[in-house]
Amino acid sequence: MSRSPAIIVQGVHKTYKLGRQELHVLQNVDCQVEQGEFVSIVGASGSGKSTLLHLVGLLDRSDEGHIALSGQDVSELSFRARNRIRCHDIGFVFQFYHLFSELTVLGNAMLPAMVDTPLLQWMSKRKHYREKATAVLEEVGLADRLKHRPRELSGGERQRVAIARALMNEPDILLADEPTGNLDSKTGAKIMKLLNRYNEKGQTILMVTHDSKIAAQTDRVMHLVDGRMAGDGS
Ligand SMILES: Nc1ncnc2c1ncn2[C@@H]1O[C@H](COP(=O)(O)OP(=O)(O)OP(=O)(O)O)[C@@H](O)[C@H]1O
Ligand SMILES: [Mg+2]
Repeated sequence: MSRSPAIIVQGVHKTYKLGRQELHVLQNVDCQVEQGEFVSIVGASGSGKSTLLHLVGLLDRSDEGHIALSGQDVSELSFRARNRIRCHDIGFVFQFYHLFSELTVLGNAMLPAMVDTPLLQWMSKRKHYREKATAVLEEVGLADRLKHRPRELSGGERQRVAIARALMNEPDILLADEPTGNLDSKTGAKIMKLLNRYNEKGQTILMVTHDSKIAAQTDRVMHLVDGRMAGDGS
């Protein structure tokens, strides 16, 4: 039996209302990402890339249309059910890292496990999660930075912490919004190498970028133009 696509976006519309003005940010967007694919979305600034990624990552809801993740339609699910999926099945890497400045590198990477574990279980599971976070941080090359705070890291190192945090709960889908957007080209190339390595191990990745050279390193490129998907998006 063939597996369901990792992501199906069908007829999605998103409109922002500012006073009387309506801003149609996404219009009838269809696209699909297969399990194990590494797909990028490119488009001009303001074309709706982050908006689309936020909808797929369940950080926001569409006005119309459906989104299915690994065969499950998540559009109509309750707040709680969506939270669970966001926590377990999705890893999100933000352009500006969004690390917690008061936590160490290790603390930041452990956060998704902490959020998902009831307080009473945390004490008995903490050691296990610390070991797991340490292992992921080793994979991204930060073994010797565990006790640093984000401000004591370079941009590339911060992005690697963000990637480790996103991968901590072993998500089905990794979503990355301009993961190289803030980095010089050499550091950006290292991040792409890292993402490609995870993809080779089977990680499904949907990445937003405005850089066509970066996009060309993925399996497939989708183009967003003024909130519409150019081509068929599959
Ligand atoms: N919360 C909001 N309220 C109103 N308008 C918004 C909101 N969020 C985004 N927009 C508008 O929607 C459009 C698309 O925004 P989005 O962030 O998705 O673009 P983008 O393609 O990611 O751009 P960039 O490459 O600059 O990051 C923009 O014109 C933006 O001003
Ligand atoms: Mg954006």
